[in-house]
Amino acid sequence: MTTPQHKIGSGFGAESTADDVLRGIDLSGRLAVVTGGYSGLGLETTRALVRAGAHVVVPARRPDAARSALGDLGDPGDSGVEVDELDLGDLASVEAFTARFLRSGRPIDLMIDSAAVMACPETRVGPGWKAQFATNHLGHFALVNRLWPALASGARVVSVSSAGHRRSGIRWDDLMFEHDYEKWTAYGQAKTANVLFAVQLDAFGRSSSGVRAFALHPGGILTPLQRHLPREEMVAFGWIDEQGNLNPDIDFKTPSQGAATQTWAATSPQLDGMGGVYLEDCDIAEVAPDDQKFTGGVRSYAVDPEQAARLWTLSAELTGVNAFA
Ligand SMILES: NC(=O)c1ccc[n+]([C@@H]2O[C@H](COP(=O)([O-])OP(=O)(O)OC[C@H]3O[C@@H](n4cnc5c(N)ncnc54)[C@H](OP(=O)(O)O)[C@@H]3O)[C@@H](O)[C@H]2O)c1
Repeated sequence: MTTPQHKIGSGFGAESTADDVLRGIDLSGRLAVVTGGYSGLGLETTRALVRAGAHVVVPARRPDAARSALGDLGDPGDSGVEVDELDLGDLASVEAFTARFLRSGRPIDLMIDSAAVMACPETRVGPGWKAQFATNHLGHFALVNRLWPALASGARVVSVSSAGHRRSGIRWDDLMFEHDYEKWTAYGQAKTANVLFAVQLDAFGRSSSGVRAFALHPGGILTPLQRHLPREEMVAFGWIDEQGNLNPDIDFKTPSQGAATQTWAATSPQLDGMGGVYLEDCDIAEVAPDDQKFTGGVRSYAVDPEQAARLWTLSAELTGVNAFA
């Protein structure tokens, strides 16, 4: 059954942290995969999952940086976290990582796709794909499809999107920005793709193996994600002042608060039997009117089942991977 895109009143909110939503949840014996699990929200998610008893696999573009960031969790091997190599912008790297993982024969209980690049200058990867769509969507598409045999019955897949999805739907006539690249439109399209991916994956998963999928906006949090933004742009947005101080009038979340919604999506019993919906502030979001400015909710085009199916077919053609063919 499809899940209504309406709030459920979880009792958690914008100020809840990843540890708050995990209180009373024992993840001992559960295996999680967290892309980007060594920076920003992914790092806080990994730490919280490990504290709750999970074993977390962190596929990293920079494994040494990942080991260093995760060092406070203890010695590799017995700390509950392991690092492997993965570049989401390189399909051969995705194939190599998944082959290594599948050889280990372990089932995945939770998968959180947190890695992304935001508003980068025009960059092409692989066969000439735009970096944001390729990294944020196509890389995760290939990753999850290749890992499908390991996704245990009842597993959850969480696609970390953004309120930025409201900057653009899927540009069906110029997906790879052959014309007029604009970094925020490209981010918006990629983040819409993250939501549509969860909608279609959930449609496949709920009718086959009971795997459910969610997408979400984590909130606004200053992390290394802003690395491609010049200071003047962040000042112009009103995020910081000329000296780099945070604007106290903007409700930025802490990284742990920013990690809460993805952690809740992956683990909360409140979401049992649900899926295919977009979340924010640890609850299901409402659908926002198309003409509404950036105040919350999900655009209807991002949760449209027809567009989700169309994007799935196109992504399978582009990546050559489809677990449901
Ligand atoms: N922070 C916010 O305010 C905010 C708001 C809305 C949505 N989000 C979403 O939240 C998620 C996490 O963002 P964050 O703030 O935690 O950002 P972050 O600190 O920059 O973390 C992003 C992670 O993605 C990894 N990554 C980038 N390109 C990769 C590639 N080609 N292959 C593998 N990994 C790659 C990065 O690895 P390297 O460090 O090695 O590059 C990093 O570990 C993203 O999906 C973002 O769109 C964040």
